[in-house]
Amino acid sequence: MKRILLIVGGGIAAYKACELVRLIRKAGHSVTCVVTAGGQHFVTPMTLAALSENQVYTTLWDLKDEAEMGHIQLSRAADLVAVAPATADLLAKMAAGIADDLATTLLLATDKPVLAAPAMNVRMWQHAATQRNVATLRGDGVTVLEPDEGPMACGEFGPGRLPEPEAILRAIEAALAPSSGRLKGKHVLVTAGPTHEPIDPVRYIANRSSGKQGFAIAGALAALGARVTLIAGPVALPTPAGVERIDVETAREMAAAVDAALPADAAVMVAAVADWRTGDAAGQKIKKGDTAAPALTLVENPDILAGLAHSAHRPRLVIGFAAETERVVEHAIAKRARKGADWIVANDVSGDVMGGDANLVHLVTESGVESWERLAKADVARRLAERIADAL
Ligand code: CTP
Repeated sequence: MKRILLIVGGGIAAYKACELVRLIRKAGHSVTCVVTAGGQHFVTPMTLAALSENQVYTTLWDLKDEAEMGHIQLSRAADLVAVAPATADLLAKMAAGIADDLATTLLLATDKPVLAAPAMNVRMWQHAATQRNVATLRGDGVTVLEPDEGPMACGEFGPGRLPEPEAILRAIEAALAPSSGRLKGKHVLVTAGPTHEPIDPVRYIANRSSGKQGFAIAGALAALGARVTLIAGPVALPTPAGVERIDVETAREMAAAVDAALPADAAVMVAAVADWRTGDAAGQKIKKGDTAAPALTLVENPDILAGLAHSAHRPRLVIGFAAETERVVEHAIAKRARKGADWIVANDVSGDVMGGDANLVHLVTESGVESWERLAKADVARRLAERIADAL
């Protein structure tokens, strides 16, 4: 039995929260409801109290409630916080960290997984501000479901309908599953981010890798209980909870750090390692002077993935990434063989993947190619971590 804290926002879809409460209980979990001021226009606290057989909370400023169960405690007593319907306003406040009523205060104070099921007018959903907020929330690790598409209460048609309560329940149960510790006792190496190859003390060669996908994978593996060593190129990202991070600059430093972190049960090489470095980085800043522009002589960097896959200390499971801009799967199949990896996660980086929050990937293994739907990077990470747990 899990404890769900359900926040009911102010939209016409709030009536479906009643059905969700019923389904959550039928699945054997308990549910405590918080209804926003807007939500109370569509569904009464009395209805939710009767269906949940639990006290319903509506305000921050109730002396009796606060004395019995402080709001911080309320936000942490649950195993998961679900927001349904998540209105455009609630998503915006969550993304900005605003805490101006009970619901938003609980959302800011919680240390538990948060899942939001959006429902709003199609234009509001498609508005750049809402899409930006959703991307921010996903980047923060919040599971934001895609709204359903169809005719809406306001008479328009498109994405914006609350997902069916059955689908929300399935998503809640999936979000609760990972804390199972399936990777306890396993050591997993993850490389992430770009590498910087110096030209002189102030200039370098780099690429557009943000490190987001690799960091998300490291976090997802740690959430499954693995000991994770994350070897990160220069990126400005917070270290995921429970992960040991080693910062490096160049490909050669990354190769050495990988070597030093062995042995490992699995390695996930997500870094966009620079293929070349300058043959002889200048010791002093190169001056413009009056000579012609300097020619850079490039030499190839060590292939960290191939080196690891062919080493005596090869982890049982070696996973590479393949960033491609064309013939994605074909290149990935060739790359898997060439590098000696067990799996290649191929992604099409011709669009806005680099630096973005979503990813479209194909998993290439010995037994074939699996194409995943477009997912938030956090969801790609969770799914890959589960697959790694299956394999180990
Ligand atoms: N990789 C690595 N060391 C390198 C280059 C790449 O470990 N010097 C790893 C990456 O971390 C990734 C995989 O190899 O897991 C594929 O990287 P990619 O840049 O797509 O492959 P390349 O070998 O550079 O092939 P190409 O440039 O021909 O596509």
